[in-house]
Amino acid sequence: MTPLKFAVDDGSTNVKISWIENGEIRTVISPNSFRKNWKSAALRKDKKVFNYTINSTKYTYDMTSDKALETTHVDYQYDDLNLLSVHHALLQTGIKPGPVKLVVTLPITEYYDAEDCQKNEDKIERKRENLMRKIELNKGELFDITDVEVMPESLPAVLSTLLMQSVSQFNRSLVVDIGGTTLDMGVIVGEFDDVSAIYGNNEIGVSMVTDVARKYLAAADSDSSYLVANELIKQRDNLDFVQEVVNDESQISLIINKIETKIEELGKQVAHEAKKFAKNPNRVYLVGGGASLIYPAIKAAYSTLGDKVVLVDEPQEALARELCLYHSDGESVEMPAQELPVQEVVNV
Ligand SMILES: Nc1ncnc2c1ncn2[C@@H]1O[C@H](COP(=O)(O)OP(=O)(O)OP(=O)(O)O)[C@@H](O)[C@H]1O
Ligand SMILES: [Mg+2]
Repeated sequence: MTPLKFAVDDGSTNVKISWIENGEIRTVISPNSFRKNWKSAALRKDKKVFNYTINSTKYTYDMTSDKALETTHVDYQYDDLNLLSVHHALLQTGIKPGPVKLVVTLPITEYYDAEDCQKNEDKIERKRENLMRKIELNKGELFDITDVEVMPESLPAVLSTLLMQSVSQFNRSLVVDIGGTTLDMGVIVGEFDDVSAIYGNNEIGVSMVTDVARKYLAAADSDSSYLVANELIKQRDNLDFVQEVVNDESQISLIINKIETKIEELGKQVAHEAKKFAKNPNRVYLVGGGASLIYPAIKAAYSTLGDKVVLVDEPQEALARELCLYHSDGESVEMPAQELPVQEVVNV
């Protein structure tokens, strides 16, 4: 059996996974929400329970637990939770488990060495090995990961956009990736002729907004997981949904206000960092799950660029989709090595 190939952007809060099925690209987003120990069998037949074991430690997938284990730290890239989340995401594709080859991602600042700006082979190897470790699913079958290739996060997300717009070799495109826990940026020269600078900040991400949402939800007798809080951020204009998750309805307007204020703050912070990092790029592309939240602030910060500030289609899935497209025909894309030093790296 030839292994299937999946492109996996295994971010700290969501795994985005793309593959080609009958000539079409498909994508699934699988949120990370695991806790220790197992769940008892579901009463309803249509509710599947996912109980995993890694090295005799038991884990379960739990969408709504407020005890969900944190995946929002850099070490997540190399630990049990990463192994769990990738396997769990593979099971969400609906494809029968079998041997698979994966293309996965590492944050820019892990992928490239801050010292000499070259690929950090140690970290790349560490991630590969972590994903080939043994894991079991109780009463079920898992995919067999036979090979893992590692790519940097963010930058490849705009590969086809750049090619389609046939930008000149003098063009400098700033890519801003705002995910659950990190802000990554890079400057691409031309149609990926070069990557001239990279930036990573583990302190700025949508989780700033999520934390505020959780805090005010808890104060309204509605303790919730990251997942529920994130859904609330997305659906903050949908009153039916809001009423469903907030128990103390008198607090609804306060909660929504706090969320809106934090979104604005996030936008301002990202815009400030972006301007510091790349003052006058020719184009700006926004990717990552939080892209739509910060779009207004970035557009304002680069107002002279007008519609050259682009919110990429389906920004959260963009990277997985692009990686899938570029690896689909068996040939892999070489990521250029850095020419200039990493401008700022905040590793917390
Ligand atoms: N339409 C949307 N509106 C607002 N927030 C969204 C939307 N879609 C996704 N998000 C939020 O974006 C975040 C996830 O983005 P993404 O999947 O890019 O992060 P990640 O890759 O897991 O994190 P990181 O890149 O920091 O490791 C979550 O907090 C999610 O709730
Ligand atoms: Mg990401």
